[in-house]
Formats: sequence, C-alpha cells, structure tokens
Amino acid sequence: MKVTIIGTGYVGLVTGACLAEVGNEVFCLDLDQHKVDLLNHGVIPIHEAGLEELVARNRASGRLIFSSDIAASVEHGDIQFIAVGTPPDKDGAADLQYVFAAARHIGKYMDGYKVVVDKSTVPVGTAHRVREVILEQLAARGSTIDFAVVSNPEFLKEGAAIEDFMRPDRIVIGCDETFGGQRARSMMKQLYLPFNRNRERTFWMDVRSAEFTKYAANAMLATRISFMNELANLADKVGVDIEAVRHGIGSDPRIGYSFLYAGCGYGGSCFPKDVQALRHTGAQYDHKMQILQAVAEVNERQKHVLGRKIIQRFGDDLGRRHFAIWGLAFKPNTDDMRYAPSRALLRQLLKRGASVAVYDPVATKEARRVLQEDFAEMPHLLEQIRFCDSALQALQDADALAIVTEWKAFRSPDLNQIKNLLKEPVIFDGRNLFEPWAMANAGIEYHGIGRTAIK
Ligand code: NAD
Ligand code: UGA
Repeated sequence: MKVTIIGTGYVGLVTGACLAEVGNEVFCLDLDQHKVDLLNHGVIPIHEAGLEELVARNRASGRLIFSSDIAASVEHGDIQFIAVGTPPDKDGAADLQYVFAAARHIGKYMDGYKVVVDKSTVPVGTAHRVREVILEQLAARGSTIDFAVVSNPEFLKEGAAIEDFMRPDRIVIGCDETFGGQRARSMMKQLYLPFNRNRERTFWMDVRSAEFTKYAANAMLATRISFMNELANLADKVGVDIEAVRHGIGSDPRIGYSFLYAGCGYGGSCFPKDVQALRHTGAQYDHKMQILQAVAEVNERQKHVLGRKIIQRFGDDLGRRHFAIWGLAFKPNTDDMRYAPSRALLRQLLKRGASVAVYDPVATKEARRVLQEDFAEMPHLLEQIRFCDSALQALQDADALAIVTEWKAFRSPDLNQIKNLLKEPVIFDGRNLFEPWAMANAGIEYHGIGRTAIK
C-alpha cells in the first residue's frame, strides 16, 4: 500500500520504517529540513536499537523515502498518518497546532480518497476537529472529495520501539461508520494484516474511545509508578524493603510485576504530558481527576528524592562537594532527555554549589543541548558540569555516586574500583540496582529508594 507519515520523529520514523519493512511504499514527511537531510544521508537523529539497519535496508529497496515536500507527501499516500508532536501547552492541554497544520496540508493538496490516521496522542474529539479542518480546506477550493479520519494511537516504548511495533500487544483502531467507515476499515485491516498473523491483535472501537484508550493506558502506568514511589518513601521511614514488597504484591496475577519499580520518578516525552492532558480534559468537563493530580504531584516530588537524600547526608551547602552521576537519559536504551529526572537532580545540586561529573552511554550530546536550555538564565552553573567518557572516569574524587538511569552497564560494577575512586564510598541509587546487604558487605554506604529495611 502507499502510505505517508507526517512527522518523522520517534513514532513517525519507527512507524514508517516498520511499515516499509512489511512491503508498503512509505513516504516520510518532515518540515525539519535538517532532519530530512540527515535521514537522506543515512544518519538516524535518535538512538533506537535496530533502527539504523531497518531504515538503511528499506531506503535501499526504495520503499522508504524522506522529504519535506508537502504536496508530494499528500499525493503519495492513500493512507496519511499524522505522527507529529503533541507537546503540553502552558495550561497542560495537548498543543494540537502541529496536528491541525498537518490536517490543513492534507486538505489543501488531496485529490482523491484518503484515510487520515491520527497516530499522535490526541485528546478525545481531535479526529472530529481534524475532519473539520480538512473539510474547511476542501470547501475553500470547492472540492467534495471523500475521506475518512480514524484514530490509531501508538503504544511503543522507546528503547524497544521496533519490537513493540512489529510485535504489538494490541493494535487499537477507532473507526466510525459515519466518517467513511467501511472503506477506511478495510484499508486499515489490510495495512495491519502482517502484524496480526498469528493472532488477531486489533481492537476495533469508535474513534473517541480509541483516543481515550491511549491516555488511559499511559495514565494507568504512571499511576502504578507514583503509587509505588509513595509506598517506597513510606518504606524508607518505617524500615521496609520496597523490593520485597514488590515481589510480595506482584506475584498476585491481579496486580502483576510490571511497572512496579520505585525510583527517582518517571520522565520521558509522554507520561508527564499525557497525565497533564488527561487532567485537562477532566477540567474541561468539570470532572476533577483527583488521582491523576496526585500522580503528577508525587512524581514531581520524586524527581527530587535523590537530591533530598544527598542534602540530608551532606548538608544544604554543597559548595565544596563534587558528585558523580551515572545516567542522564529518562530511561536506558535511548538518548531522550525529555522530562528526564536527571535534569531535576542537576538543578538541585548545581544551585547549591556542587560540581558534578556525569556519564551516560548515549545521551551526552542531547544532554548538553537540553541543559543549555535548562540553565539559560544561570549559564555559569553549566561550568560546574564535567561530561565524562566512561562511568569510572566520572567517579574520580567524587564525594558520592548518584545513579539516575538503570543502564545495563551500571548493574554489576567493580565495587572495589568504586571504593578506590570515590572520596567516600557512598552511593545514592535512584533505580534500586543493588542489594543493600551486598553494598554493606562491600563497605559501601548505600541509599536506595525505599530500601532501608531493618534486618
Ligand atoms: P517528535 O517530537 O520526536 O517528532 C515529531 C516530528 O514531527 C518532528 O520531527 C517535527 O519536525 C515534525 N513535524 C511537526 N509538525 C509537522 C508538520 N506539520 N508536518 C510534518 N512534520 C511535522 O515526537 P514523537 O515523540 O514521535 O511523538 C509524536 C506523537 O506520538 C506524540 O503525540 C506522542 O505523544 C506520541 N507517542 C510518542 C511515543 C514515544 O515514545 N515518543 C510513543 C507513543 C506515542
Ligand atoms: C511509555 C509507555 O510505556 C508506552 O507504552 C507509550 O507508548 C509511551 O510511553 C508513549 O506514549 O510515549 P516510554 O515513555 O518510552 O513509554 O518509557 P517507559 O518504559 O514507559 O518508562 C517511562 C518512565 O517511567 C521512565 O522514566 C522509567 O524510568 C519510569 N519507570 C518505568 C519507573 O520509574 N518505574 C517502572 O516500574 C517503570
């Protein structure tokens, strides 16, 4: 099939490459010319395992092309995916300006039946508004071409994006009979056939329910995390090991083990903004989302938990202190720094005068970029950050080590080397990578999240 993807970011690029891999002719549009140029030179702008090979293979076969030519992109695809960003507005609502710009482009240039697919995460009612925007454009040029707007939210995780797309748990498609439904439904069915081979994974529903399902999924996951973080903070106070508790409750199949890891808070491009956006939808309908308010507040606090533990241990004035930090990305296997908890920790430490030596296996370049923005009003603080080429280099002469991202490479370090390189053998572990007893045996003072069990 001929498919256009509008917006070649994380979701657009992965979607485009995976749809090309199963035989479709895919046209990826992006208005960021620099991004398009990089992709046309085989450079992948994001760190995502396997993506470079997948893109290279499908570019070489001619099934995947990158361009900033809007008219050509609309002409190409019978199916037009909108996969642009939906960042938070000042009031927490999803900013839909990029979605509507994409819709305007489709309406302006389409010359035959199209299925327009909202792949971006968008609030309930957006497909309806996308339809109106396209109709306005068609009316402006006196056209009555038929089209459909369907909702097909994406559930991939960064770091496992290709696997998630190629072997999805579920495919959610919202398709209303009143919106040119039958034809759109059969085209979407055909498109997703290769992903439904062994068993049917598609859940068909109405458009509004599909839009809502995406927010409900992210909000549920974020809720689990904040709930565990709240328990972990209490566990610290009452002398309980949250890891033992996680096993104890996760073994109940009604609860399950996933997304029960306490830590220094969730980050990333989606949980924070989607929780806010769902709260905003609630407010619009005079329906206060009390649980989600708590989820967001607990997470905001949690991003400061490592900093607070460090201040408790070393005092509020960190003027002569130097810390090693392992991990900058919001999670392992990505260079994404959006809402990364490391940014909150750096702010806490640097503002109190500390200097830091930081190491991340892939996110250093992106971290340099976002930290310039974070410290735009206090650029002198950036001089207190040293970016290191290895985890060990960062440890040299530090008063303590803080771990923010659970990269595999940090999981079994040489504890003697850590002890030798640090000024004091103290670890603040924001991802609970180690066992407190093992640290105690090694003579390391260990501060996890919710791990101060009295033995
Ligand atoms: P992103 O910021 O990485 O990419 C968006 C891209 O769209 C950018 O390259 C931008 O230049 C381009 N763009 C903006 N307006 C455009 C236009 N009018 N025409 C063409 N290109 C345009 O965003 P992302 O992380 O891929 O997220 C996209 C959407 O998918 C969001 O709604 C997000 O919530 C959702 N989502 C993201 C993930 C994820 O893991 N990142 C997972 C599931 C869903
Ligand atoms: C998340 C969802 O998992 C995807 O299904 C969804 O498609 C995506 O958001 C999206 O809509 O963008 P992602 O943000 O890539 O994916 O990463 P996750 O693995 O979900 O982790 C998010 C954050 O939660 C990370 O900071 C991670 O460290 C934290 N986390 C995760 C915890 O603190 N504890 C856990 O138990 C799990």
